[in-house]
Amino acid sequence: MASTYTYSFFPISKSVGIHASAQKYRELRLKALKTSPGSFSSTYEIEAAFSDADWVDRLTVLDREVFICAATPSGRDPSCSDDTQWIGQVTLRGPSSRADFELPAEAGQPPQRSDEEEERWQMLSLFTLPEYRGRGLGSKLCQAAIDYLRSYRSAPRDVQVRLIVKAGNDVTVELYRRLGFVHAGRATLVEALIANGDEHLIPKDQARNSAIPETAAFPLVPTVREIVLTLQDESRWTNLPY
Ligand SMILES: CC(C)(COP(=O)(O)OP(=O)(O)OC[C@H]1O[C@@H](n2cnc3c(N)ncnc32)[C@H](O)[C@@H]1OP(=O)(O)O)[C@@H](O)C(=O)NCCC(=O)NCCS
Repeated sequence: MASTYTYSFFPISKSVGIHASAQKYRELRLKALKTSPGSFSSTYEIEAAFSDADWVDRLTVLDREVFICAATPSGRDPSCSDDTQWIGQVTLRGPSSRADFELPAEAGQPPQRSDEEEERWQMLSLFTLPEYRGRGLGSKLCQAAIDYLRSYRSAPRDVQVRLIVKAGNDVTVELYRRLGFVHAGRATLVEALIANGDEHLIPKDQARNSAIPETAAFPLVPTVREIVLTLQDESRWTNLPY
């Protein structure tokens, strides 16, 4: 590993170089699931079985934007893909309607405003490679995603960004708090999967009732509630320069 790097942050293009991007995204996502299995609602086993077409779909579906942090050793050309490694990622999913965004009452989420008043996005899958952590890159990735939302919208003016963090992932909760996110309830893993657009990963018998299926690919314990955070402070959107 070189001692100094130049870092860049960008959304993955949905058209240019999509097959090469899908390979790099797959490699990084599988590393995330393997090195941090307790942090995500999906698993390495589930996603390692995805086909090449599944990975391309992930990057090209209309309701998702995937943001990358890339590292280029100092003195090398960041536009040359051979010199640049993708080392971090975060995904935005949205915009979601009020009906789709609302969690069951037990989650304790504050009431949602109308679709005319507010646009809603879910942030998910934040990850940086362990050897690059503690350099502010995770925070900058989130900020790049938030800046993207600010830059492309015209109306509605207000935006809510929500994320669901596994209970006990205190480092990440602290990172989000520093970005302005506040506590907004507690959701089950099933609710988190639905919010993240991963409903298809829920075992069928779990989706129908709250019994824990013996055949579940991973444990879905209905009594454990993960932490819901939102960024909704309007001053954060209006005070930042465009
Ligand atoms: C959460 C995560 C993306 C943070 O990435 P990062 O690049 O270290 O982020 P930052 O440098 O912006 O902030 C990390 C903070 O956590 C602290 N930290 C926690 N674990 C650390 C580690 N292993 N190395 C360095 N810093 C660490 C740092 O002190 C830093 O706080 P500071 O700004 O006060 O110094 C990364 O730890 C990760 O990928 N974790 C596993 C996946 C995960 O939990 N994702 C979140 C799902 S909701």
